[in-house]
Amino acid sequence: MKIGVLTGGGDAPGLNPAIRAVVRRAISYGYQVIGIRRGWAGLLELDTIPLDRNAVSGILPKGGTMLGTSRTNPFVKEEDQKKLTENIKKLGLDAIVAIGGDDTQSVANRLSKLGYNVIGIPKTIDNDLWGTDRTFGFDTAVSIATEAIDRIHTTAESHQRTIVVEVMGRHAGWIALYSGIAGGADVILLPEEPFDLNEVCSMVKKRYDEGRNFAVVVVAEGAVPKGIEDFFTRNSQKDAFGHERLGGIGEWLEKEIEERTGVETRSVVLGHVQRGGSPTAYDRILATRFGIAAVDLIKQGNFGKMVSLQGEKIVPLPLEEAVKANRVVPEDMRWLAKVFSP
Ligand code: F6P
Repeated sequence: MKIGVLTGGGDAPGLNPAIRAVVRRAISYGYQVIGIRRGWAGLLELDTIPLDRNAVSGILPKGGTMLGTSRTNPFVKEEDQKKLTENIKKLGLDAIVAIGGDDTQSVANRLSKLGYNVIGIPKTIDNDLWGTDRTFGFDTAVSIATEAIDRIHTTAESHQRTIVVEVMGRHAGWIALYSGIAGGADVILLPEEPFDLNEVCSMVKKRYDEGRNFAVVVVAEGAVPKGIEDFFTRNSQKDAFGHERLGGIGEWLEKEIEERTGVETRSVVLGHVQRGGSPTAYDRILATRFGIAAVDLIKQGNFGKMVSLQGEKIVPLPLEEAVKANRVVPEDMRWLAKVFSP
């Protein structure tokens, strides 16, 4: 059995533990593993490396991915699709493990529908993959964002300022919600519900009127104000999966809040800091469990699945289920964002 493993999409802490687990489990069954570099791009360009026990030694605590990643979509051009399937044959791959978010899993699903043996492993700091209670990377991102919010608190309080912290989260506000609660933010804004700018300003004002002379606002990059209801984007460019580069809502809020309330306001974008560095113990364990489960599915010949966390259990889910929607913060959890608002 020869397995190819790749990591696609934005990186997330936990990718290396997942690769390591795939390799170690596969070796224990006597399988051979090759690493495909830079996601689907590596399969188009036959850019691979053999992965044995030595190759994955020492990668467990490291952030990023030893294989590199890209947002390459091999189904955009017809010639790429042809090359992709030809190269799977050329490499003699019996199975592919695709570690990635919704875009990577959508390619995995298409390949599986074409008859190839594919297993998906979910990752993304955004925690927005359907059918799994958690993706690895999320726990680390929330810890980093929470620490940042703690630091923002002390400087905001010292200067009697309002500080807006923009965190990642395109369609789903999981990072904003969790880090906002853990960091004790006064206002938490999610992409799931357009927010009322007047309401945000009154909350900030109320804090100052009550003598708490500073405020911290946490906003997801995909949050939108009522009346505008369109993402704030950095530019008009889109990636190969049609996603725009988001950003700017924090800066916009900074100006609006200062102008409307008269309170000195600043904003900070946490950006890729949230994706970098060593994974937490939780993410290392989840990624390891996913990696083991993926190889076990290969052993059983149970292909076309994405491993998922359901409660405490790792459960195989049909890939087509996993890609059907984004897992946003459900309505019955959104109230948590407002519970401690002024
Ligand atoms: O990994 C998902 C994500 O973090 C989104 O929240 C964000 O919009 C996107 O990646 C940005 O990634 P990049 O700058 O690598 O394209």
